Amino acid sequence: MKKKISIKGTGSYIPNRIVPNSYFEKMVDTTDKWIISRTGIQSRRMIEPGQAMSDLATPASERALEMAELPPEKLDLIIVGTSTADMLSPSTACLVQHRLGAKNAVAFDVNAACPGFIYGLAIAQKFMQDGSNRHVLVVGGEIVSNRIDFKDRSTCVLFGDGAGAVVLGHSNGDRDGEILSTLISSDGDLWELLYLPGGGSRNPPSYRMLDEGLQYVRMQGNEVFKYAIRTMTDAAQKIIKSAKITSKEIDWFIPHQANIRIMEEVAKRLEIPMQKVIVTVHKYGNTSAASIPTALDEAVRAGKVKRGDLILVNSFGAGFTWGAALFRY
Ligand code: ACO
Repeated sequence: MKKKISIKGTGSYIPNRIVPNSYFEKMVDTTDKWIISRTGIQSRRMIEPGQAMSDLATPASERALEMAELPPEKLDLIIVGTSTADMLSPSTACLVQHRLGAKNAVAFDVNAACPGFIYGLAIAQKFMQDGSNRHVLVVGGEIVSNRIDFKDRSTCVLFGDGAGAVVLGHSNGDRDGEILSTLISSDGDLWELLYLPGGGSRNPPSYRMLDEGLQYVRMQGNEVFKYAIRTMTDAAQKIIKSAKITSKEIDWFIPHQANIRIMEEVAKRLEIPMQKVIVTVHKYGNTSAASIPTALDEAVRAGKVKRGDLILVNSFGAGFTWGAALFRY
């Protein structure tokens, strides 16, 4: 029989530096009013120069382990969902393993852009169901602030940095929660909607790469917008149907925090009222793979999300990738 898996602890780490919309008014042709009305974003957090992904992922993981009351040596697996690792090699997961002292874990990254955390949950579920892995750390984290062109108004205002984590273990019973279902999808035909051309093997670091600004995110915003609504709605509907529930039974919906208009439209299509939607995009911007685990951790620590609540999460991002998960906390 497949083992049930539950979330034992959550944690997050958001950088201290607050960057309000007014910061961009001095750099590009934009206004606070435009950013708020088109995205819902009022401010975002950005790292200090020199900080890297594992500097955010490690404290987020420590907080999740503390809540789970689990020593790091008991971790069997560490999965970090990120597309902005500290280095091209090794994985950020290995650096987190080193810093936590999680000597007995296997560690690897998943590069699935914004749904990286949901991809991590889905992979962890597979590794845990047969009982072979008992304790798994899943992190979603991103540092987008050093991958954006501060001269491009259509991308620079959107993103922020952060990391969130969960510790998973086998469920001890009904009061312990359970991951009911996960769903992940991708469509590589849509890769050109959102990509970062420079720094990999296609355009390795060079003066040409820097001259042409290939180190920055490129995005067709309004195309992404349409696919985001379509794929997030579709994934959520499929998972709701497979779990044989209705959206009315969902206590909290945590969609990817990219744009309040996308979140409102998806919630509307799923018939979930906005009072049940957890929103952090106004203060953190789009933190990519970090957006769901950081929002979950905040809601848990604020006492909003309680044990037994039914939670739906879904996301979309570069690839094109998307996914959803349904769990009882
Ligand atoms: N300030 C002022 N004007 C702007 C800005 C800005 N910051 N950015 C774009 N504009 C202008 C455009 O140039 C355009 O002007 P034009 O009509 O003269 O050509 C006008 O605003 C409208 O542009 P649109 O792109 O149609 O605006 P839209 O309402 O679609 O909003 C936005 C743009 C916010 C980028 C939206 O398309 C969006 O949110 N898309 C999804 C992006 C996203 O979520 N990406 C991340 C997904 S993956 C991940 O999370 C890593």
